[in-house]
Amino acid sequence: MPRPAERTSGSDVADRADARVAVIGAGKMGLPVACVFASRGATVVACDVDRRVVEAINRGESPIDEPGVPDLLREVVRSGTLRATTNTGGGVVESDIVVILVPVVVTPSQTADLETIDAVAAVLADSLQPGSMVIVETTLPIGGTRRLGQLVERGGLRLGVDFDLAFSPERVKSRLVLRNLRLNPKVVGGITPRSAARAADFYATYLGAPVDNVGTLETAEFAKLAGMVYRDVNIALANELAAYAELHDIDFDRSRMAANTDGEAALLSPGIGVGGHCTPVYPYFLIADSADRGAPARLAELGREINRFQPERALDRMEATIGPLAGHRVAILGLGFRPGVKEHSNSPTFALYEQLRARDAEAVVIDPLYSAEEISALGLNPGDIDGIDIAVLVTGHDAFTGILPQLAADGVRLVFDGRGIWSPEDARDAGLIYLRPGMAGGERVVGR
Ligand SMILES: NC(=O)c1ccc[n+]([C@@H]2O[C@H](COP(=O)([O-])OP(=O)(O)OC[C@H]3O[C@@H](n4cnc5c(N)ncnc54)[C@H](O)[C@@H]3O)[C@@H](O)[C@H]2O)c1
Repeated sequence: MPRPAERTSGSDVADRADARVAVIGAGKMGLPVACVFASRGATVVACDVDRRVVEAINRGESPIDEPGVPDLLREVVRSGTLRATTNTGGGVVESDIVVILVPVVVTPSQTADLETIDAVAAVLADSLQPGSMVIVETTLPIGGTRRLGQLVERGGLRLGVDFDLAFSPERVKSRLVLRNLRLNPKVVGGITPRSAARAADFYATYLGAPVDNVGTLETAEFAKLAGMVYRDVNIALANELAAYAELHDIDFDRSRMAANTDGEAALLSPGIGVGGHCTPVYPYFLIADSADRGAPARLAELGREINRFQPERALDRMEATIGPLAGHRVAILGLGFRPGVKEHSNSPTFALYEQLRARDAEAVVIDPLYSAEEISALGLNPGDIDGIDIAVLVTGHDAFTGILPQLAADGVRLVFDGRGIWSPEDARDAGLIYLRPGMAGGERVVGR
């Protein structure tokens, strides 16, 4: 793509209040970010390969269900400060700042799949303008941003000289995105101190959030990965302690709450498994790289192993209580990985479903946020609680909180409360066998 007239190379000044910004990847994270920039005075073009996403945005209709975004989107599209395009190169040519929010996932062999980021780098190599700044927000393995910069250099611009490069991890949570964007400190690091400072200025102006300039790209990348490993390992610790509590007939939750009052401990709740785009994924970026470098991250690996085993462990406990699951009809309650959220990436439901089938049980998935067609399209069997004798709770949706009497009335015998949302007393009063992580219970019944 031809470059239009040259702009000042390597800006030394903060971007002005009329910055032109391209956000590449207008998904669950990219779109809210683009809307916020546009609402704070930038002229924003959201670039996405998905034509339906682009068309919806240009109609002022939000393709994502995130609180506050539909209204903000309508406002910025109407005022002309945000538009969308499938022509990413064109969007980049007309921008001073390029923010990348495309997904990077792990391969089946659990290394980072950089295909999407490489596709973006190829477009940037052709279309980035001298004097621009690229900011990567997508979570990457350490060194991933520098590598992208080197790919962009193939287009002829010199990294850190003709264009700035920064990394700023996206650390917000779905359903809380707009609030988190405003309040969470925005971590930034740059290829040079100038890039870092420029990115810090950009976010201070166009996000209005507190900014934490940590210096280098890699320090900023590690801030995200370290946070993810911390969370995963701490959930694994809770799961391990919960399993120990079961051996002694201790209610782990009660011990956990008491332990957390000493000003030192911050034990998390155990559960039936870790879902989501982030926590069960990004530790692998660290695990794979540290193994390659001959310094295995053993605790991170073990944390992953413990958490990945939680769904299977839940089924083992059920079998220890009522005997083999073969022939039972089991309802998995919840597909989303967080209450009230319609997102199922790496949901423990998938592992439970697969394991139940492997144990010759019949499994159905029930989630009020998904239609039967949507559940089928994911290779799962939708259903209802008719004829069910076991219910396994994966997601603490509101719709499931008061469901115990109905489950009992419909013939359910055993419930596994994977999120600890039900009262054991209520379950037992309803005549149900009640199991949850960190609480001994149930009874040994051989056979059906
Ligand atoms: N979703 C979350 O809860 C969350 C939270 C924190 C951080 N993040 C970070 O945000 C990143 C993006 O996540 P998301 O949830 O917004 O993903 P998403 O799947 O909702 O959206 C990604 C968008 O990128 C588009 N895209 C893919 N390849 C492209 C390309 N080559 N050029 C242009 N557009 C392209 C897709 O069409 C899609 O619309 C993640 O990789 C992660 O690092 C996500």
